[in-house]
Amino acid sequence: MPEPPRPLRVGIVGCGLIGRKRAEALGADTLVACHDVVAAASAGLAADFGGRACGTLDEVLALRPDVVIVATVHDQLAGISCRALEAGAHVLVEKPAGIGVAEIERVAAAARAAGRLVKVGFNHRFHPGISRAIGEARSGRYGEVLYLRARYGHGGRLGYEREWRADPHRSGGGEIVDQGMHLLDLSYWLLGELPLHSALLRTQFWRAPVDDNAVIILGGPGGVGDPSPFAIFHVSWTEWKNTFSLEIACHDAKLAVDGLVRSYGPQELRIFRMRPELGPPEVETERYPDDDVSWDLEWRHFTAAIQAADGRELLGDLASARYAWSCVEAAQRR
Ligand SMILES: NC(=O)c1ccc[n+]([C@@H]2O[C@H](COP(=O)([O-])OP(=O)(O)OC[C@H]3O[C@@H](n4cnc5c(N)ncnc54)[C@H](O)[C@@H]3O)[C@@H](O)[C@H]2O)c1
Repeated sequence: MPEPPRPLRVGIVGCGLIGRKRAEALGADTLVACHDVVAAASAGLAADFGGRACGTLDEVLALRPDVVIVATVHDQLAGISCRALEAGAHVLVEKPAGIGVAEIERVAAAARAAGRLVKVGFNHRFHPGISRAIGEARSGRYGEVLYLRARYGHGGRLGYEREWRADPHRSGGGEIVDQGMHLLDLSYWLLGELPLHSALLRTQFWRAPVDDNAVIILGGPGGVGDPSPFAIFHVSWTEWKNTFSLEIACHDAKLAVDGLVRSYGPQELRIFRMRPELGPPEVETERYPDDDVSWDLEWRHFTAAIQAADGRELLGDLASARYAWSCVEAAQRR
């Protein structure tokens, strides 16, 4: 019998909403330290999950954690990740992993120099409906992918325009960075590096110097006669009913995922299989339980890669973050 893997020693930097979600998903691994610039946030996390509440990042790193989870505001993600890598830790950094392509490249260089793994928090890949839909489409079972179409949105909350997400210096952009990153990551997973075809950014409701609605089209210039795939997304902070919808049209079937559990509604995957004679498709429906398993599954995927140390592919890494930022930067420049 192989030895069971030893529990990993984990540090968390940034103890807000997502730092807490990550702590809840640690399973058998141990939180040894956490840090937040708001002392009450780190004290609260340590009280609930154990480990030392540290006053500085250096204090966390001095405890030599195997992994550091970075879940801060966006302008801090890359710098803290580099520091953790230089201290010898593997890093799980929340999306968007920094601000801009240059910061992502800086983290990638630090990871190479340290010989450590960096996983980007693209937890949407681990929602079972999304994971099955993309897996089925990638398998080629239904022929070539024609297009990916997705809508993702929420309605903010009172005072959202004063939160860090609405400050471009701290966030790097509005909804295109907030939820758009996840759709760009899923498109990258399915279709690779499609170029940005066009983008529309708007600020319609929130009084902030960032986009609250973004529409993105990915794909080559093409035209009539061009069968190459494309993707089209709309992400919104004025989606008054939280919404997640992802559709993948293939040559022989359409796969549709609705819902992201909880406030986004139960997750359901429908596969519409075309018959040789076309007409109404045959429909398979799979419904998933209403708990969000994506955080647990993503953590287990990352820790298995760390323990195996065999260079296996990480689902959702810096290559995807780099691609997503190249699209966002191109959209913002226009
Ligand atoms: N995957 C998802 O579905 C998802 C959802 C929400 C947020 N996120 C990402 O998670 C990250 C955190 O978002 P959140 O919703 O938890 O935000 P949050 O505001 O709840 O928490 C961020 C925390 O970081 C702390 N912080 C800021 N600068 C710091 C520094 N230099 N050192 C230590 N702590 C610092 C803040 O005090 C705050 O407590 C962001 O990158 C965000 O995009 C991912």
